[in-house]
Amino acid sequence: MLHRPRRLRRTPALRALVREHRTPVEALVMPLFVVERESDAGPISSMPGIARHTLAQCIAEAERLFGLGINAVLLFGIPAHKDAVASRNADDDGIVQRAIAGIKAAVPEMLTIADLCNCEYTDHGHCGLLDERGEVRNDETVALLTEVARSYARAGVDVVAPSDMMDGRVAAIRRALDGDGFSEVAIMAYSAKYASAFYGPFREAAGSTPQFGDRRGYQMDPPNAREAMREIALDIDEGADIVMVKPALPYLDIVRSARDRFETPIAVYNVSGEYAMMEAAFERGWLERERSIDELMASFTRAGADIIISYFAADYALRHGRGR
Ligand code: PBG
Repeated sequence: MLHRPRRLRRTPALRALVREHRTPVEALVMPLFVVERESDAGPISSMPGIARHTLAQCIAEAERLFGLGINAVLLFGIPAHKDAVASRNADDDGIVQRAIAGIKAAVPEMLTIADLCNCEYTDHGHCGLLDERGEVRNDETVALLTEVARSYARAGVDVVAPSDMMDGRVAAIRRALDGDGFSEVAIMAYSAKYASAFYGPFREAAGSTPQFGDRRGYQMDPPNAREAMREIALDIDEGADIVMVKPALPYLDIVRSARDRFETPIAVYNVSGEYAMMEAAFERGWLERERSIDELMASFTRAGADIIISYFAADYALRHGRGR
C-alpha cells in the first residue's frame, strides 16, 4: 500500500511532530468578575468554578493566573448602584477602575483588558441609554462609552473592549483616547457579536439581564455571516487593533472567514453558556473534562483565532502552562 496516513499517528512523539496547531497559554484571556459591594461576591450557580470576586480576591486571582502563565485578564465590573443612565460607569473610583489599578500595581506585566459596556451599570439592563420607546440610543450611548474608555485609560488599562455593538463606537473611542494622550491604549472590538442565547449564565453573574425586550436591536442576528464580515471591516477601518467573534463554538465558520479575509489579530470569546453546558456534562460524568477542554481550544486555534477568551483558561493553563 502506497498511502498509510496512520504511520504518523503511531506514537505520541510522531503525533506531536506533525501536529498542525497548538494553543499556547499565552493566547488565552481569563475573564474576571469583580464586585463593588462585598456581599455580591461568591460563586455563580450556572458557572461552577467561576466566582464574583471582591477587589482583593480579584487582584489575588490575577496574581495566581499570572503564576500559571496567563498574561491577560478581561475585567467585568458589578457596581453597587445601577440607574437608567449608567452613571457609575465612568466614575474614576468605580470598581473596574480600581481593579485595573490594583492589578497593575500587584502584577505590572499582567495585561488588563476592560470590557466596555453599560449593561452591568443600567437598572434596565440594556447596553445603552434608552429613548422614550425603550430603544437604545446609538450616538448618545457612544458618547457615554467614550467617557468610560477615558476613565479606564486614566486607571491604567492596557486594552478596552467595547461590547455594546453601537455603530461608530470604535472610531469615537479611538478619537477620545488619542485626544487625552492615551494613544497606546489598544481597542479590542467585539465586532461580530451575536444576539445569543449562550450569554445566559453571564447575565446571572453580572446581573445584566434586560428587564424588558432583548438585545436583537443592536447585537447581530445569528444566521448572518456576510454581515459579520462587514462589521469586522468597519471596526478595522475605525481603528480596532483586535477584532472579536462571539460566541465561539456556534460561530467558528465566522472565525475562519474572518481569518481568511483580514490580517488583524482575531479573538474568539468562548462564552458563559458554552462553559456552562460543558461543566454540566462534566458534573454528570457525560464528558471527559481534560480532553474536552483541550479539543475545544484546538478547535478555536484551528478555526484561525489568535486570542481565546475562555472561562477554561485557568484550567488549561494549569495543565499546559509552564508556570512562573
Ligand atoms: C456585555 C457583555 C456580555 C458578555 C460579554 N460582555 C453580555 C451580553 O451582551 O449580554 C457575555 C459574556 C459571556 O456570556 O460569557 N455586553
